[in-house]
Parts: sequence; structure tokens; C-alpha cells
Amino acid sequence: MKYRSFGKLGITGSAFGLGCMRFNGPASGDSTIDEQKAISLIRHAIDGGVTYIDTAYVYLNRTSETVLGKALRDGYRDKVMIATKMPIDHVHNRAEMEALFEEELRKLQTDHIDFYLMHAVNAERWERFKAIGAPEFFEELKQKGKIRYKCFSFHDDYPAFEKIINDNDWDMVQIQYNFMDINNQAGTKGLELAGKLGIPVVIMEGLLGGRLAKAPDNVQALYDQFPVKRSPVEWAFRWLCNHPEVAVVLSGCNEMEQVDENLRIFDTVEPGIMSAEELKLMDDVRAAYLSRTKIGCTDCRYCMPCPNGVNIPGTFAVWNKTSLYNTDPKEDGNLKEILSANAGADRCIGCGACEAQCPQHLNIIESLQNAWQDLGL
Ligand SMILES: NC(=O)c1ccc[n+]([C@@H]2O[C@H](COP(=O)([O-])OP(=O)(O)OC[C@H]3O[C@@H](n4cnc5c(N)ncnc54)[C@H](OP(=O)(O)O)[C@@H]3O)[C@@H](O)[C@H]2O)c1
Repeated sequence: MKYRSFGKLGITGSAFGLGCMRFNGPASGDSTIDEQKAISLIRHAIDGGVTYIDTAYVYLNRTSETVLGKALRDGYRDKVMIATKMPIDHVHNRAEMEALFEEELRKLQTDHIDFYLMHAVNAERWERFKAIGAPEFFEELKQKGKIRYKCFSFHDDYPAFEKIINDNDWDMVQIQYNFMDINNQAGTKGLELAGKLGIPVVIMEGLLGGRLAKAPDNVQALYDQFPVKRSPVEWAFRWLCNHPEVAVVLSGCNEMEQVDENLRIFDTVEPGIMSAEELKLMDDVRAAYLSRTKIGCTDCRYCMPCPNGVNIPGTFAVWNKTSLYNTDPKEDGNLKEILSANAGADRCIGCGACEAQCPQHLNIIESLQNAWQDLGL
């Protein structure tokens, strides 16, 4: 495992950080945790050198922190730094922030949080966090030693990022970044701004929620032509770790084999490791993906549950999959599941609850109709 610097904090952490949002595969629509499997997976990652673990109050129907707390018994807590988050939709005043934080400590079975984040901050949520005194509350927690670092995770565009990062004394920021998102969300400009400010950056959605792990044929052809052979996952992580501003790359693994592959990859990657030819390859790969992508949904599921029962991320996943991999929608098992559960886009009534929650600002209502039409339904 390579260990990387956290900028101005003067500490190091494992380049691979384990994300605890995707146990059991939301792609299948299942958000219940196989607890024993998750605990084994977390401990296996720590035994392999992972020292940074990311969770949040809301992940996996609020069970992610509880399972992580159980996994960190038997001496594992002392081997890792925990990052968890406060969601603005669950707190409206100081008393509720205190209660939610204490609940998180109890679930995680710890007396302190290492990295405490305001969750999924955008321009509008940042104003709400400020209005209830969250920045002051975080500072007090830090002074009392209940948290070590004050941080935020970000989902909005670059202008919002620039405003928020300059509007508080932050210790770390978590952004969505991968070789497809250079001009999306905070983007490369945001990454470099954080670097200039000395604020370490933790990366989420480094594989775009897993979409970059399986290359479509036009992308695989580019990888195959390159003299050095690497898996799509290795190319994606290598590209991220090439950036010196990146402290940790989170990966939400579902299977032991994924942990093992990631442990192997993060043993080899360092800032500045990529040659000009490799960087050119990744530019070509990006163009090849864009030529076939229908919608930039990352399957984060923030839009769910839909009040009218539409399986929104599932529908978009099928739409992208059939376009990227040239497959027949009629043969698609996931689409069959959506149809048999009566969770198709035809149930959308255009209420917009999903669009208000989408961190990617997707035009979900219109896209659902387009997807349904393209899929021949
Ligand atoms: N704060 C926020 O707003 C926010 C938002 C999103 C994520 N996060 C955090 O960031 C973490 C990472 O984000 P993410 O889960 O979206 O990460 P990601 O790395 O983009 O996607 C994770 C998915 O990639 C696939 N994967 C991982 N390693 C693999 C390997 N070696 N080979 C093949 N496939 C592999 C798995 O997909 P399959 O399930 O298909 O196998 C896994 O579920 C999350 O777990 C969460 O803790 C935070």
C-alpha cells in the first residue's frame, strides 16, 4: 500500500480508502447489508494496509455506520481513520446536530471521529448549514477533541466549490472526480484550487460508481492497443493517483476480490507516475466513453425512493448499458426486473422530488421519458 500526504494536515493515509456505501450492490436494488460479509471485507482491507474508511449517517438505510462500528471492534479502530458525515436534511438546530453526532459516535463505537464532513454540500445546502451554525458546531467539536478535522463533501459546480472552500477554515474536502469528470462538478479546476490552498482532497466515485470498471468494446480496443496491459480499474485509479493533490481515493468494494485487486493496484501508484503516452490514452478513452453515454447518472441513489415507485437509477443504468455495450434492451435482465416490479418510467408523474436531490443536477424527468422511448417501451 502506498501512503500519501494530507497537505497542510501533516499526516499520511492509505492511498486506497474503503467506502462503506455500496455493500451488497445497489445495482441490484438491494440496500440491505450482509453484515458478516461486510465486516470480513472491512477487516480484510485494514489487514491489507487501508487506514482510511468512509461512511455516512444515511448510507444503506442508516446501517452503514453500525456495521462499520462492529467491524472496528477487536483493536481495528486504532488502525484506521474514520470519516463520517452530517446530513443537513436531518438537522435543523444545535440540539439536533448534537443528538445526531452522539448517535454516530454510538453506532461507530468510538469516542471521536477523525474526519467529520458536512454531507453532499452544494450552494443551497451550504447556506442551510451556515444558518443552523454548523461551522461553529464543527469548530467546537474539534476544540473538544471529538473530531480531528472539519471537512465537507461536495456535489455542485466549480463556482459553488470556489465559494464554499473559501468561506470556511476547512481541513479536507471530498469531491467526485475521475477521468470522465474533469469538467464536471468541482472538476480539475477545483482539485487544483484545493491543492493551492493546501487542503487535502479525498476522491469519491473514482470509478463513476463502477461504470469505469467494465470497458465497452470501443474503449477496450484502445486499452488493448496500448503496449502495457492493465485492467480498466487500474487505469482509472492510476490516472487519479497521478494527481499530487489527491490524498485518498475511495472505492466502495462489494467483493473480497475487488478489495484484493485494489490493494494490489494501490501498491503501485504514485503522483506523477503517468507518461505523456498514458495521459493521451486516457484522453482517447474519455472521448470513446462520451460518444456512447446517454446520461451521467452514477447510481448514487440520492434520488431514491421515488414517491411514485420509479426505479430511476436502474432505468438510467439500463439506458447507458445498452448504449455503451450495444446490447438488446429486450434481453436485459435488469430491465425485466424493473418491468415486473412495475417500476418503469411510465409511472413518473413529474413531481420533481428526484431532481431536487440529484447531486449531478440531472434533468431526470425528461431523461426518464427519453430513456423509455429509446428502450422501445
Ligand atoms: N459524500 C458523498 O456525497 C458521496 C457520494 C458518493 C460516494 N461517496 C463515498 O465514496 C465512496 C466511493 O464512491 P463509490 O462507491 O461511488 O466508488 P466507485 O469506486 O466509483 O464505485 C464503486 C463500485 O466500483 C466497483 N468496483 C470497485 N472496485 C472494483 C474492482 N477492483 N473491480 C471491479 N469493480 C470494482 C464496484 O461495483 P459493483 O458494485 O458493480 O461491483 C463498486 O460498488 C462510497 O462508498 C462512499 O463512501 C460519498
